[in-house]
Amino acid sequence: MSDVMIEARDLSKLYGPVHALKDVSFEVRRGEVLGFLGPNGAGKTTTMKILTCFIAPSTGTAKVNGADIFEDPMAVRSAIGYLPESTPLYTEMLVLEYLEFVAKMRGYKGEDARKRIKKAVEQTSLGDVIAKEIRALSKGFRQRVGLAQALVHEPPVLILDEPMSGLDPNQASEIRDLIKQIGSERTVILSTHDLGEVQVTCDRVLIIAKGRLVADDTPEELRERAGKASYFVTLDGKGADAKKAREILGGIGGVSSIKQRDAEAKGELLFTIVPKDASDLRRDIFQTIVKNDLVMLGLERKSEGLDKVFRDLTTGDTAASAAATKTKRDQKIDEAREKKKARDEAKRKDDERAAEESSSDEDASDEKGEA
Ligand SMILES: Nc1ncnc2c1ncn2[C@@H]1O[C@H](COP(=O)(O)OP(=O)(O)OP(=O)(O)O)[C@@H](O)[C@H]1O
Ligand SMILES: [Mg+2]
Repeated sequence: MSDVMIEARDLSKLYGPVHALKDVSFEVRRGEVLGFLGPNGAGKTTTMKILTCFIAPSTGTAKVNGADIFEDPMAVRSAIGYLPESTPLYTEMLVLEYLEFVAKMRGYKGEDARKRIKKAVEQTSLGDVIAKEIRALSKGFRQRVGLAQALVHEPPVLILDEPMSGLDPNQASEIRDLIKQIGSERTVILSTHDLGEVQVTCDRVLIIAKGRLVADDTPEELRERAGKASYFVTLDGKGADAKKAREILGGIGGVSSIKQRDAEAKGELLFTIVPKDASDLRRDIFQTIVKNDLVMLGLERKSEGLDKVFRDLTTGDTAASAAATKTKRDQKIDEAREKKKARDEAKRKDDERAAEESSSDEDASDEKGEA
């Protein structure tokens, strides 16, 4: 059996003039939890809708569990558990009633259906709310119902569109643990805007921007992209010479540059060390300091942060598009201003005319009075 569970080939999608997806290709293997990361409107939901056979791509194709979305859509659908964006549910149903309905739709009856529902309820810890109406549940629990619905047929592939969106940190963490647990046996794609989330939940991250894939990395590779870490060293200033300390630290192999921060700091020498590459220099820094009879008060390793990587990767063309949007918006504002000006002008003319008419009436009556 092939290890590739999802294979997207040159997927493109046009919604009228909107090119939502452009030549997107990727593979997801058995047991992988793949994070699909991108800003609003990037094409995440569109890709998921194509993989789940909700919409057809304009060009390209995809296979899920070996079945082609065009040739065998029923096989694709039965291989997938899908949690759509914003968790659509029949909220007037009881949780149990809804899961029974889902099991029936999936073709399960009697004892088989009961067993499956029981398992999905256990996996998603829904036991306490099973007899409640869905509309009476909190968002986190509704999300669980959405997940339970996606698990009833025990699919090998789960596609979850923003499963953590709108949850408080506690609920998000519970859902995250649940996804990790589910993901140990299945292939999962989940979409999100949250970099921190993919770091802790996913084995691999695809970043999509304006319908194109811009990165396919592990969270570690993404971190490496985030730039080399810098080291923030604090030395006891008592009896230590700043210039000499700087020379000593600068002499460590692998150091690219060294800078003294806040030379005025009371009794302390603060340095920032920038390394040549991503290798860890903490041991060398510590040993060098000790060997040279300096006293280290602090050593911290910090990287630039994934937020910057996300922004850099996803905003390449965004400035141009933002400028276009701005131009359009400015145009609309100008049009509205013109309209208002024309209306004011027309009103002014009307008022003038009315004033002229009333004064000529008065003149006429004056004339009458005089006569
Ligand atoms: N039914 C539709 N008709 C027209 N345009 C659409 C339709 N659905 C999506 N789009 C457009 O396609 C692009 C991609 O949308 P999509 O919903 O896939 O983005 P997304 O990455 O899921 O965004 P979000 O993070 O906001 O959910 C957007 O420009 C969107 O406006
Ligand atoms: Mg979406």
